[in-house]
This record gives sequence, structure tokens and C-alpha cells, in this order.
Amino acid sequence: MAVYLDNAATSFPKPPRVYERLRGYLERFGGCPGRGSYRMAKEAEAVLEETRALLAELFGVKEPRRIIFTLNATDALNMAIKGSLRPGDHVVTTVLEHNSVARPLNRLERKGLIQVTRVAASSEGFIDPADIQRALSARTKLVAVLHASNVTGSLQPVAQIGRMVREHGAVFLVDAAQTAGAVPIDVEDACIDLLAFPGHKALLGLPGTGGLCVGPRTQLTPWREGGTGVLSELPLQPEALPYSLEAGSPNTLGLAGLRESVQFILQYGVAWIRAHELSLTKRLLDGLRAHEHITVYGPSSLEHRIAVVSVNIAGCSPAAVAEWLDRTHGIAVRAGLHCAPCAHQAIGTFPEGTVRISPGYFTPPGEIDRCVEALRDAADELAGHTGRRAIPSSQATAEGVAG
Ligand SMILES: Cc1ncc(COP(=O)(O)O)c(C=O)c1O
Repeated sequence: MAVYLDNAATSFPKPPRVYERLRGYLERFGGCPGRGSYRMAKEAEAVLEETRALLAELFGVKEPRRIIFTLNATDALNMAIKGSLRPGDHVVTTVLEHNSVARPLNRLERKGLIQVTRVAASSEGFIDPADIQRALSARTKLVAVLHASNVTGSLQPVAQIGRMVREHGAVFLVDAAQTAGAVPIDVEDACIDLLAFPGHKALLGLPGTGGLCVGPRTQLTPWREGGTGVLSELPLQPEALPYSLEAGSPNTLGLAGLRESVQFILQYGVAWIRAHELSLTKRLLDGLRAHEHITVYGPSSLEHRIAVVSVNIAGCSPAAVAEWLDRTHGIAVRAGLHCAPCAHQAIGTFPEGTVRISPGYFTPPGEIDRCVEALRDAADELAGHTGRRAIPSSQATAEGVAG
């Protein structure tokens, strides 16, 4: 059986009730929501609205209509960035951002439409709120910060940053791709105006799902226009949420699955899920940190991290280590830049990146041990203890820059 340790990319497996629901949904409710007055369409519509209400409960959003369904976190981030910025605006962001924030901002900046300030990170992968404060100007329209790094696992002080941004009068966008479902989030408490999240990572739903919470202080320009199933007589996209930002037939199957997984999360509680994932992370860190040839990146304290651990074995290419783990031990981890090149520059692992190990809620502790053992064996081997060398050195591989 393969050992799956790439939950930061997408979670696997999903809660059993998700699989059961998907089958039931396909067999019984497969209508198109909001587009018919017959029972199947109404049932599909009800599934969507129930999912919206559950997500609103999870994130402390008062009005469920402020939850907009998207394809993934990238889609939500594009909607937030392109829907809120105007020519001449200034944006404050960080070097840790994923390309789903960095690339849209880079393009707008290169076209001369906006100005961007990128706040530096510490070697452990933390943003200092004082640096954000210093970067704010009278023209700052948007502050975009990720909740936790998908490279270092470092959890950022978003509530502290949010209060500062609110006082300044700018819009606060948080990329919760790595934390939604894994770390408690309250948009009111953290003064978050726009919260982008995927449904397929720690929310334990299907690929092709995600969302954006749109707070009452923000008005986004629609970047996708078309059928809403309601107010069809209007020549333009309706102004009311969620219709102003949702167009076209939704991913009802995916959202039916998400309804089940969010219910599962609410039932156990995010705090419990976080405690469980951190116990797995501690097991992983304890096993890896003890080896002199393994470098573990990210925060030294467990309290300020999530279940994402980046490592390197001295002298080995991360891509070769990941390939070796899969080939010889059936262990699935991700190597390379993880779509966040500047984060690697900040921690000194550019351009080859790191080997990223990300347990999930359903990871058995024994699988953590198998991964630790395999990496320790590899590091021993490289140090010449066994006289054998299965993993090519970083100089010997051309596959270094991946992901
Ligand atoms: C921090 C961060 N932001 C954004 C994304 C993009 O998420 P999605 O794959 O749902 O578009 C990821 C994906 O790994 C991520 O880790």
C-alpha cells in the first residue's frame, strides 16, 4: 500500500461519508441547481445552500451568500485580486506567496497598472507584522498574505496583521489554501475581508472545489459573467451576492462532497483536527531532526506551524530523493519549489527546493515512521555508512527544478 504524504497538494483519503454521498448524489439528485422548478433541481439547489451555510459557520461568516464557490484556491485568489484592484493601486504582499498570488500581481505590476511591495520573511518563514505596517501607504488598496506557507509550514500572525490593515483602511486578502479546515479561522476576529480557500486540501473535499468569502467592506468586479438561473431578464450580471461572482452551472457533485466533508470537520472541530495533525507533525520532526545529515526547514516551535515539513538530505537533489522514496518505498512526497520560488529564496533552498512531507488527518502514525526510517536510511547511506549509494547527488541530476 502506498504511503500518501502529499496532503498539502490535495488531501487523500476523504472521510468515508464523502464517498457514500457522492454515489447517492449521482444516483438520486443529479439535477442542475437554480435552473428548474422540478424536484431534482431544487434538491441540487438545497445541497449548494447547505454547503454555503456550513462553510459560513466554519469561518464565522454571518451571511452565507458571502461564500462564493470557485474551482480551487487559485480561482478564488484571481477573483479577489483582479476584482478589487484598479490602475494606480498599491499592494502589499510577502515573498512567501504561492504563484497563485504572486503571478497575477507580477503581471499587473509588469503592465504598469499597480505597484507592489513584497515584505521579506525570516529564515524560519515568518512575516513580521511591523514590516507590513511600514509598507502601507496612502495608495495601498490591498494587503495579500498567506495564512501558512506551503513550503515552511510557518503560520503567520494574520489576526495581528488584519487589525492593522483594517485600521489603515485597506482590504485584507488571506490565502488560506493550507489552513482552511486545519487551523481555526474567524474572519470577523482576524479582520479578513477576503478569504480564499480550496475545498480539496484540509477541507477534505473533492478537486475542483474551493471558495472565496467576500466581506461586507469589499465590492468585487465580476471576472466571470453568464447565466445565474435567477434574474435572467437583466442585461448585466446581477449585483447581489452570490450571483455577481458565480456564473455557469456549478460543480454540484463536488459541492455535495464538500458538504459532507465540512460537516465531518464541524463535528470533530478544527481545534481537535489541528491537535491531531500536530501530534503527527511532532513525530515526523522528532525523527528527522535527530539526524545530522537531514536539514529540517521552518519554525522551531510546533505551535507556530502546520503539518507541512520541508527537508533536504545533505548533498542530495530533492527531486531524486522524492523519486527514490516512491520507487523503493512507495512513499508519495513532493519535491521542488512547490509553486513558491521566492519562499525558497528566503530560506536558501532555491533553485532545487526541498522535499515536502505533508501528513493529513487520516495519516496513520506508522506511515510517518516508515517515511522517517526511509529518509534516515537514505541519509546514512549518503554519509557512507552502508557503502551503497542509491540516490544521485544534487550535482548528478538534472531534475532539480520541479513543481
Ligand atoms: C499557499 C497556497 N496558495 C494557493 C494554492 C493553490 O491552491 P489550489 O491548488 O486549490 O488552486 C496552494 C496550493 O498548493 C497553496 O499551497
